[in-house]
Amino acid sequence: MKISLLGYMGSGKSTLARHLALQLDLPLKDLDQLIEQEEGESVSEIIFNRGEIYFRKLEREMLEAVLQEESFVLALGGGTPCYYDNIELVNKFSLSVYLEATIPQLYNVLSQDRRERPLIAHLADEELKEFIAKHLFERRDYYEKAILKIPAKQNSLEDRLEAIQAYLS
Ligand code: S3P
Repeated sequence: MKISLLGYMGSGKSTLARHLALQLDLPLKDLDQLIEQEEGESVSEIIFNRGEIYFRKLEREMLEAVLQEESFVLALGGGTPCYYDNIELVNKFSLSVYLEATIPQLYNVLSQDRRERPLIAHLADEELKEFIAKHLFERRDYYEKAILKIPAKQNSLEDRLEAIQAYLS
């Protein structure tokens, strides 16, 4: 079985992926971590030193490679579905799940946790909310192409796991 989790930064992809992989006994994959291992640099360093376009190419290559594996729960990066035809590829090879979060929910998470996030690390609080709103608006059409959509935050982690399990059964 192949499952890919997608959604904006701070929507909880990595946490849910970890639990889902345990529950379904599937290999856990995290696209950002795989890129970091391969490059020997953090995503922040790659984007800062070599630029976002370079990062998006690495991300695409790693995505193509992971999607060929036999089974996994894969946490995508927040931007992965929005470049090249990545979302079509993800949908072709896996069950894609969009963790849908509202702007206030994302702001709550990201305002506390932005240092390791290169696209927003430089933003002040007042700018952050505006940035999330615009960025999410630009990205939503890609996220909406996911096969399954579940609320990212309203319910408990157990509810999110159950929603995916219910779809699978
Ligand atoms: C990005 C999200 C990050 C990471 C990179 C770019 C984005 O992943 O891939 O910093 O464009 O939204 P997370 O969503 O896991 O933070």
